[in-house]
Amino acid sequence: MDKLLAGKTVVLGVTGSIAAFKTPHIVSRLTSLGANVIVVMTENATRFIAPLTFETLSGNEVVVSMWPDSKVGVADLEEAVSGTERLMHVRLGEAADLAIVAPATANIIGKMAGGIADDFLSTELMAMTCPVLIAPAMNVNMLDSDAVSENISTLKERGVVVVEPATGRLASGAVGRGRLADPDTIVDAALAVMVPGDLAGKRVVVTAGPTEEPIDPVRHIGNPSTGKMGFAVAERALSRGAQVVLISGRTALEPPAGVRFVRVGTTREMLDAVLTELPELNLLVMAAAPADYRPEEVAEHKIKKRADILNIQLVRTEDILSEVASKKQLGQGVVGFAVETRDELPNARKKLEEKNLDLVVVNNPMIEGAGFGTDTNIATIIGRTGLEESVGKTSKHELADVILTFAIRELGWGKIDGQQR
Ligand code: CTP
Repeated sequence: MDKLLAGKTVVLGVTGSIAAFKTPHIVSRLTSLGANVIVVMTENATRFIAPLTFETLSGNEVVVSMWPDSKVGVADLEEAVSGTERLMHVRLGEAADLAIVAPATANIIGKMAGGIADDFLSTELMAMTCPVLIAPAMNVNMLDSDAVSENISTLKERGVVVVEPATGRLASGAVGRGRLADPDTIVDAALAVMVPGDLAGKRVVVTAGPTEEPIDPVRHIGNPSTGKMGFAVAERALSRGAQVVLISGRTALEPPAGVRFVRVGTTREMLDAVLTELPELNLLVMAAAPADYRPEEVAEHKIKKRADILNIQLVRTEDILSEVASKKQLGQGVVGFAVETRDELPNARKKLEEKNLDLVVVNNPMIEGAGFGTDTNIATIIGRTGLEESVGKTSKHELADVILTFAIRELGWGKIDGQQR
């Protein structure tokens, strides 16, 4: 399968901020999505992080200076962009599909707004004909200053995409707005610019996290699901143009801005929330880990610690996917997950059939790098029409993208006049 950013060139500007230590994550994610990333650093940025880090991750030389006697100069540019043959003899500024500046200091923002070109990065940014995205990072007082506020507004008016800084502890020790946005958020914003929304006009409902079944007013049966996989699917679906509803049990995660968020407690509540959305949805991704059993009776008061053995009678909860299977309309897609600790593929195929799914994503949480709480997953995706693909250890965000791409294929949404888009 073609990677999402195959054939795309991204110029990534790094300026002198302590937040530059987060930029390698952006480079490695863009690279693993297939992009050719060319990193351009200011001299000050090299004080915070070594160009070698970016050279290693991007596979391209890092451009620092205008002048050939420095480490890398203009003369080396062609070599730097030679990762894509199409780019030979073409200036970097014209060749890029997107320019990102992350972190963007008050200084580079001021230069961009004011038209100053006094080093390689500021010169190149002025010559850019492609979309430009900046992720500011600075002290809260600088960010709130009239100069920076006006400069950011000017850039927005000119069409520069600004990934807003986050709030939290700053390098100065103060707490406030000004932290570099989460690197994954920056990559998602970059994807939204570069990848046409292949889920535009689709309504995607995603479930995430555990459900909790009360035993008494202070106890419940739960499971260690963190919701990371479902939140990643919601975030990626949103970036790909979908309208997204995220139905989640208790997690420590912040819902992505732009999704409609529905918080639920029990499996019954999750089922009700899914059924409410069912008539309007195009795709349901059941990434949640709903409890399969609940106490038959919930004690009205806290159960006191008296007997050595406490028996609690458990009864089956509703199976959300099975309920959906019997009610869904033609053309509505359903993706389920199968958590299996043995005979993964036969068990997953059985779930695909029994629950009338279009795709099933199977993973074994006993394998290192897969399952609950990790940032990565290892999975096999099985489709109704014979598709079967193993996805090696990958981030949950990347797996989310693969799942959505396969769902689009399986449901035939990418086809125009019978042709695959
Ligand atoms: N699921 C559901 N309703 C439940 C439990 C699970 O819809 N009450 C969904 C999950 O969100 C997941 C899929 O069913 O997409 C498979 O979950 P899994 O725990 O692997 O399978 P179960 O159906 O619970 O079967 P078993 O535990 O017997 O493997």
